[in-house]
Amino acid sequence: MEERKGFGSNFGFLMASVGSAVGLGNIWGFPNKMGASGGFTFLVVYLVLAVLCGFIVMVGELALGRKTGKGVVSAYHVLSKRFKWLGWLGILSPFFILFFYCALGGYCIKYVVVNVGDLFGASFGSAAFAEVAAANGTSLGAEVFNAFMGNPTEAIIYGLIFVALTMLIVMGGVSGGIEKVCSVGMPALFVMLLICIIRACTLPGAVNGLKYMFVPGWAVANGIIEEAPNFLTVLSTAGGQMFFSLSLGMGAMITYGSYLGKKENIQKNGLLIVIMDSIVAFMAALCVLPGRFALDPNGDLGGPGLLFVTMQNVFSRMGGMGPLFGILFYLLVVFAAISSSISLLEVIVAHFVDKARDAGKGDKRKVYTLIAAAAVSLGCILVCADALGNSSFSPADLLGIAEPKAWAADWLDFWDAVSEGVMMPLGALLMTFMVAYEIGTDVVKDEIEQCGNKFTAFKFYNVCVRYVAPLGLLLVLYGQIKQFFF
Ligand code: PFF
Repeated sequence: MEERKGFGSNFGFLMASVGSAVGLGNIWGFPNKMGASGGFTFLVVYLVLAVLCGFIVMVGELALGRKTGKGVVSAYHVLSKRFKWLGWLGILSPFFILFFYCALGGYCIKYVVVNVGDLFGASFGSAAFAEVAAANGTSLGAEVFNAFMGNPTEAIIYGLIFVALTMLIVMGGVSGGIEKVCSVGMPALFVMLLICIIRACTLPGAVNGLKYMFVPGWAVANGIIEEAPNFLTVLSTAGGQMFFSLSLGMGAMITYGSYLGKKENIQKNGLLIVIMDSIVAFMAALCVLPGRFALDPNGDLGGPGLLFVTMQNVFSRMGGMGPLFGILFYLLVVFAAISSSISLLEVIVAHFVDKARDAGKGDKRKVYTLIAAAAVSLGCILVCADALGNSSFSPADLLGIAEPKAWAADWLDFWDAVSEGVMMPLGALLMTFMVAYEIGTDVVKDEIEQCGNKFTAFKFYNVCVRYVAPLGLLLVLYGQIKQFFF
C-alpha cells in the first residue's frame, strides 16, 4: 500500500499550522472587532479565551488527528460511537468557507494588480478613478471598489485564479506543496507586516489609531462607536473571532495533526500556534488602524470596506511610496489567505485521498484535488457574481426578505453564517463533549506523552475541557447565532 506522507519537519508543520491560523480573520476581523468592542478589554478577553478554550481545543484536535493518522471523517469514525458523524461537519465547514474565502482572496490579488498599476502609472491603477471620485465627491478607494463590484466577470476571474493557486499547492502534497510554501511564505509575511507597521505607525495622525486600540472609552468618547458593548457581547465576539482565527472546529488541525511525526511535542506546538496567531492578529491591528486614522479618518473600520476601500485610500494618499506599500500589504494578505485556504482544501482532499489509498487504489491526490477545487469554484463563482449582495439573486432576493439579517444579505454572509456562525462552534463544542465525556481525556494525554514528551498542562486541560471550554463554546455559539440571525 502507498505510504501516507506527512510533514518533513516540525518547523514545516508549525509554519503550515500558523499559516492556516493566520488569514483574513487576523487582518480584517481582529482589528475591526478589537476596535468596536472596547479595544484593550477585547484584547485581554481574547487572550484569556485563547488560553482557556483555544489552546485546549487546539491540543485536542492535534492529538486526535495524530492518534488516528487519518482525515477528519475517519478520525471521528475510529474514535467515537456517538459522534461518528461529526467528521462530516468538519469537512462541510471548510468547503463552505472556501466559497467566500477564495472570492476574497481573489479580491486581494486584484488589489495587488491595482497597486502595481499605480506604481507604473498604468491605466489599471487606482489613479484612473481620480476624476470620477472628484466628480462624485467620493474617494478613490470607493470608486475602485465600486467599479470592481460592478464587474462580476472580473471578480470571478480573480476568484478562480485564487482557487487555482490553492489547488496547485495542495496537489503538490503535504511536504512538497503545503510545507514548502508555508515555510517560506510565513516568515516573509511576518517581515512584510513589520515593514507595513513601521510605515503606518509613523504617519502623522497614526496615534489616534493607537488610542482607538489601547485607551479604554476613547472610541465612544470620540464618537467612533455609539456605545460600548456589554461584557457578554465582548466575550462572545472575542470567542467567535478566536475560534475562526485559530482554524478550530473545522477539521483543519485534526488533518494537519494526522501528518505530524509521533516524536513531536503537541503541547509545545499547540501553544506556539496560539501565540503566533495572536501576535500576528495584534500586529495586523497595529498596521491597519493607525493607517486608517492617519489617512482615511472617516473610512470603514471593518468588513470588506476596511480592506478594499479604506486601505486603498491609505495607499493612494501616502505619496510616492504608497503603491509600493500597497503591493506589499495586499501581497501579504494574499499570502495569509492562501496559507489558510490550502489548509481548508486539504481537509477535504485528505479524506478522499486516504480512502482511495486504504482501498488500494494508489495515490489519487491530484484527481481529488482537481475535483474538490472544481466544486469550490462553483461556490466561489456564486459569491463573486453576487458582488456582496449587489446582484438580484442574493438569498434575501430569492426568498423575498425585505429587511434581511446578516445571513441573508448576500451569499458571502450566507456561507459565513452557516460555517463560522453555526457549524464551527457546534463542531468544537461537540468535540469537547466527546473528549471529556465519551472517550476520556487520557486518550489525548497518552497521545501527547508518547516518545517521552510530558503533557505538563494535563490537569489544567482536564478542567478546561470538561467545564470551561464547553461553557465558552456555548457562549460563542450564542453570540454567532445572534450576530448572523437576529
Ligand atoms: N484561520 C483563518 C483566518 O483567520 O482567516 C480562517 C480559517 C482557516 C478557518 C482554516 C478555518 C480553517 F480550517
